[in-house]
Amino acid sequence: MNNNRNRSPSISPAAVVVAAIFLLVSVIGINWFTSFVPVVLPPQASAESKSVDELFYVLVIIGGIVFFLIQGMLLISVIFFRAKNGDQSDGPTYHGNALLEIVWTIIPAGVVVFLAVLSFNVWMQNTEPKAAVNMVDGAEVKINVNGARYAWTHTYQTGQIDPKGAQIVINSGNKLHTYIGQNIELELRTQDVIHSYWAPAMRVKQDLLPGNPATGGRPTEIRFTPVRVEDETYPASYPIVCAELCGDGHGRMTGEVIVYEDESQFLQQFYEPAIYAILNPPADPVLRGEILIQEYICNSCHTLDSLGWTSSTGPSLNGIADRAGERVPGQSAEEYIVLSVWNSQAFVVPGYTEQMAAFGPDQTDANAMSAEQLYAIAAYLCTQGEQSDCDIENQTVAIPAAIETAFGLEVDITFGQGDEAETDSS
Ligand code: CUA
Repeated sequence: MNNNRNRSPSISPAAVVVAAIFLLVSVIGINWFTSFVPVVLPPQASAESKSVDELFYVLVIIGGIVFFLIQGMLLISVIFFRAKNGDQSDGPTYHGNALLEIVWTIIPAGVVVFLAVLSFNVWMQNTEPKAAVNMVDGAEVKINVNGARYAWTHTYQTGQIDPKGAQIVINSGNKLHTYIGQNIELELRTQDVIHSYWAPAMRVKQDLLPGNPATGGRPTEIRFTPVRVEDETYPASYPIVCAELCGDGHGRMTGEVIVYEDESQFLQQFYEPAIYAILNPPADPVLRGEILIQEYICNSCHTLDSLGWTSSTGPSLNGIADRAGERVPGQSAEEYIVLSVWNSQAFVVPGYTEQMAAFGPDQTDANAMSAEQLYAIAAYLCTQGEQSDCDIENQTVAIPAAIETAFGLEVDITFGQGDEAETDSS
C-alpha cells in the first residue's frame, strides 16, 4: 500500500477517450430529450415566453450534460473498474492533483456565473416597466388583482365616471381580459396569506405578499404582453392557477386569461358590455343581487345550486333563507344575512372555521361592497329557500333597516343608475 500513497495519478489516454465518448453521447442524448420539451410546455402566448423558454432550454441542456456525463462515468467505473473476484485489498490512495482541481473548479464556476448573468438578463427584460400599459381606447386603465382564500378577483379602474360621480369599476372575477399586443401591468394584493399568481402560457408567476392592510398592503406587480399563437381561435383562454399552497382550497384557486384578437374585439365582447351592465342595472334588487353575488368570490367557498356553485370550504347557501331567522336568537333573518356578508365573524356556522374574506364599505381592495350592493345581495339571498324567514314583501324596508341596525349605515334604496359602480377601490 505504501508505494501507492505517493503515486501521482496520471490521466490515461483511455480515460480521456472514454470521457470524450460520454460527452458526445450526452450531447446527443440531451438533444433528443429537448425535442420533447415543446410538447411539455404550454403555448408561448406572451412576448416574454420566448426568452423564458430559451433560458429553460439552456438550463436543461447544461444540467442534462452534467447528469449524463456523471452518471455515465459512474456506470463505466462500476462496470470496468470493479474489484476482481477475491480481491479484498484497498484501492490506491491519491493525494491531490492541482491541475484537475483547478479545472473542476473553474469550469463549474464559469457555468454558474454564465447562468446567473443569463437569468438576470431575462428577469430584468421581462419585469421592466413599460410605457402605455393596460391601454383601453387610448387611455391607461389600472387593473388590480386581489387574492383571497380561495379565489382571484380582477378589477378594472376604468377612469370613467357614472352619473352619480363615482368611478366605474369593472369586476371581472377570476378572469383577466386582455388583447393581443396590450401591455399588461397588474398590481397584486392578498387579503390573507401568501398566494402566487401563475399564468403558465404567459410565463409569469408572482407571489402576493401580505402586508399592513392599513397602508394598503404590500403590492407586487406582473407585466406581460399577449402575442398571437398560431392556430389559436380568439378569444382564447389560458389558465391562471395559485402556485403557493394556501390552504385546503388551494387547488380550486384558479382563473383564466381571456385574450381577444384585437382591441376592438376586446371592447365589443368584454369592456363595453361590462360598463353598460354597470350603468343599467335591473330595477329589481333581487335581480341586481343575483348579478352582483356572482361578481364577488363567494363561489370559491360556498355551494349554491341556483348558480351552480359547488365548493365546500364554507357552509352551503342552499336554503339559507330558511335558516337565517333561527341562527341567532333575537336576530332577524335580514340581520343575520347582512352580518354574515360584511362581518362573517359575527356568527360562524358550527363545523366551519372563520376564514371568510373581508367584504365591506371601507375595504380598499377588490372586495369592496357598498351598502347598496349589500342590500341587493341580501335581497337575492332572501329568495334562497322554500319558506324564507325574510320579510320578502317588505324587503325595501326590512333589509335597509337590518343594515342600519347592524352597521349604522343608511341605504339609498332609490339608487338605480350607476350604483354598482361603487365598488370603487381607489
Ligand atoms: Cu392561493 Cu394557493
